[in-house]
Amino acid sequence: MVQPFSPNISNPISIFTFKHSSSRTLLFVTILCILAIYTIHHTAIKNTQNRAEYYRHAFLSLATNQTFSSYLKDLTLHPHLAGTNLSLKTAQYVQTHFTQLGLETKMAEFQGLLSYPVHSSLVVRFSTGSVKEMALMEMGMENSGVVMPYHAYSPSGSAYAKVVFVNFGREEDYGALGVLGVKVSGCVVLVRRGEMGRGAVVEKAAEKGAVAVLMYTDGDGNWVNGVERGTVMMGIGDPLSPAWTDVLGGERLEVGDNEVLKRFPRIPSMPISAEIAGTIFRTLEGAPLPPKWKDTLGANVSGVGPGPTMANFTYQGEKNMAAIYNVFAIIRGSEEPERHVLLGNHRDAWTYGAVDPNSGTAALLDIARRYAMMMRSGWKPRRTIVLCSWDAEEFGMIGSTEWVEQNLINLGSKAVAYINVDCAVQGPGFFARATPQFDDILIEVTKKVMDPDSEGVILYEGWTRSNGGVNIQRLSGVDSDYAPFLQLVGVPCADLYYGKDFPVYHTAFDSYSWMKQYGDPLFQRHVSVSGVWGLLALHLADDTVLPFNYLSYAAQLQEHVNILRKSLEANVSLDPLVASIGNLASAAKEANDEAKKLMEQEDSDELSILKRQAFNDRLMLAERGFLDVDGLKRGKRFKHLVYGPTSNYESKLDFFPGVADAISQSKSIDRRERQAAIQHEIWRVARAVNNAAKALRGQLL
Ligand SMILES: *[C@@H]1O[C@H](CO)[C@@H](O)[C@H](O)[C@H]1NC(C)=O
Ligand SMILES: *[C@@H]1O[C@H](CO)[C@@H](O)[C@H](O)[C@H]1NC(C)=O
Ligand SMILES: *[C@@H]1O[C@H](CO)[C@@H](O)[C@H](O)[C@H]1NC(C)=O
Ligand SMILES: *[C@@H]1O[C@H](CO)[C@@H](O)[C@H](O)[C@H]1NC(C)=O
Ligand SMILES: *[C@@H]1O[C@H](CO)[C@@H](O)[C@H](O)[C@H]1NC(C)=O
Repeated sequence: MVQPFSPNISNPISIFTFKHSSSRTLLFVTILCILAIYTIHHTAIKNTQNRAEYYRHAFLSLATNQTFSSYLKDLTLHPHLAGTNLSLKTAQYVQTHFTQLGLETKMAEFQGLLSYPVHSSLVVRFSTGSVKEMALMEMGMENSGVVMPYHAYSPSGSAYAKVVFVNFGREEDYGALGVLGVKVSGCVVLVRRGEMGRGAVVEKAAEKGAVAVLMYTDGDGNWVNGVERGTVMMGIGDPLSPAWTDVLGGERLEVGDNEVLKRFPRIPSMPISAEIAGTIFRTLEGAPLPPKWKDTLGANVSGVGPGPTMANFTYQGEKNMAAIYNVFAIIRGSEEPERHVLLGNHRDAWTYGAVDPNSGTAALLDIARRYAMMMRSGWKPRRTIVLCSWDAEEFGMIGSTEWVEQNLINLGSKAVAYINVDCAVQGPGFFARATPQFDDILIEVTKKVMDPDSEGVILYEGWTRSNGGVNIQRLSGVDSDYAPFLQLVGVPCADLYYGKDFPVYHTAFDSYSWMKQYGDPLFQRHVSVSGVWGLLALHLADDTVLPFNYLSYAAQLQEHVNILRKSLEANVSLDPLVASIGNLASAAKEANDEAKKLMEQEDSDELSILKRQAFNDRLMLAERGFLDVDGLKRGKRFKHLVYGPTSNYESKLDFFPGVADAISQSKSIDRRERQAAIQHEIWRVARAVNNAAKALRGQLL
């Protein structure tokens, strides 16, 4: 329990009254008064810091692993695929939790185009003439209520054709097949998941003339029967309202509109288990596996095909308008209620969702519980904190994207930070991804939280030991709900998790019992991840000066440039970019000096408060500078020119997506033209970096 905290500084001025009329006494009293106010203000500020510190301690000490376990159990009682009745129940569970804690709660409904399977079958015909109907559902899960494995937004269709194995289905994989004289046109391709998004894999296969795609995930031997469901839609948000929000009665495209159709692959696909993939794979003949392709199925593979094994593939799905629900808890700030720190996690799951995403939901619910207790003992954050529980993330970040689209302007001017947690606990080992101004505060927070996997060790030590130093990844992916915040608004973002590549990802086995047995048997990793998450939010909400350091950003950009330099051709100059980074570094240095000053002289007169707020706004807005209204060539909605998805994974660059795409543009275009395109993209990034520096300086003239 928290001890009630009573700093007892309310209304200090009222104790002074001016009863004496003599001017000497008045002067004396005035001086005394000024001195007293000065001291009290300093004590008050000190108290503000002490109080914030006190509540951060309280926040950590209020954690118990037991609550995480019980929240997770409740959340995963039944499957809760977005748009279903059981999913609405889960939304109501979260809503009830927030209301019962006494928190201000909101539920926002949207309509979106979701996609569900109606029927699918896979019959394989071997060269011996024998025929085998494959069981597509995970064994033992037939009557569980878990949705059958499918690819959301796959077109319906059937195919009867020879199977050919195409490794990860990348351009270079088709290239390797081409060298062997293998053509995939007219075939069903068998592909391993891993290097590209599902939608991009299917589109590439369609481009090569394939008629259907079977996709499997290399797994842990114990889970070869699991099947990875997933979306094949490209881009983010509801396909029927591609750049605006889904208000009732608002504009909506037709399902058959070209704008909508181009977000879906042209040929049908379905996910299959590694077990079924192995059965097919082992019976392929033809050219031998290219030497670079590892035979991960451990099969005695004699060839990549095509055939002689044939697949008779049928998928029938439907796309329906469905209601989805975002749930929010709002803790209004006392001093800067118009500045928002957002914590978000999605709630919808392909199956039971114990890891993905409800380990994160359990953490969100527990943070709510602890914040509510702190509020009862007198805490109120300086800035507003919003806890967000998103729906339909699995279909393409639909819940969060629609909400962000609805609030573009307000988020642009008021969102200080967005901190995401999706598959919060997958196993051991802490991971963090963030935009670089977060680095310092992220590191500091890991020094306050214990490592759940080594007795008596702080997380910072365990984390840096296993990585050989601090390793904070960046946010170029479009794989969770931070994407709309970063790509559409330019909000500083972070994403946290324990463990990676868990073997039951999107399968029917992602259940409470898996978590209990493998993911986090003692629920101490849940305690730890929520500790980092909740403490980060407390700093961002309570620190008088926002804990963002843009020198880290400049240093990271410089490192990116050093890597980029290696993949550049002659006649392309990095000078504009290098200069802009120098500019950002000096703006960051000035900002850090200013921050130090503002923190030292923490006066609480109105002018000082305004000064601090104006300064904080510059720290908040600098990230917006990296956006460009025209966005990336591959998708106008991806507007962040430093971190964003590349259309070509082969570039191997996970930053400067526009530059990366220009570099990997087809070699067939004229060299001069290509160089000009790369140079143009470098100029665009340089302008964005200068814009960020300008926002950080905050001077209009
Ligand atoms: C979902 O709930 C609605 C309203 O309660 C009901 O009409 C509908 O039949 C339910 N659907 C399923 C699949 O249970
Ligand atoms: C591969 O073939 C060899 C020889 O035929 C056999 O001994 C081995 O068990 C096979 N391995 C697998 C994984 O099928
Ligand atoms: C393929 O499967 C479908 C549906 O199961 C069936 O109707 C059709 O006859 C099969 N085609 C061949 C060539 O086996
Ligand atoms: C909580 O942690 C303690 C100590 O690590 C452990 O004994 C207990 O079983 C855990 N409780 C749950 C519900 O996992
Ligand atoms: C660089 O540009 C010059 C002048 O346009 C041209 O003559 C030269 O061939 C180019 N070099 C390369 C490597 O493209």
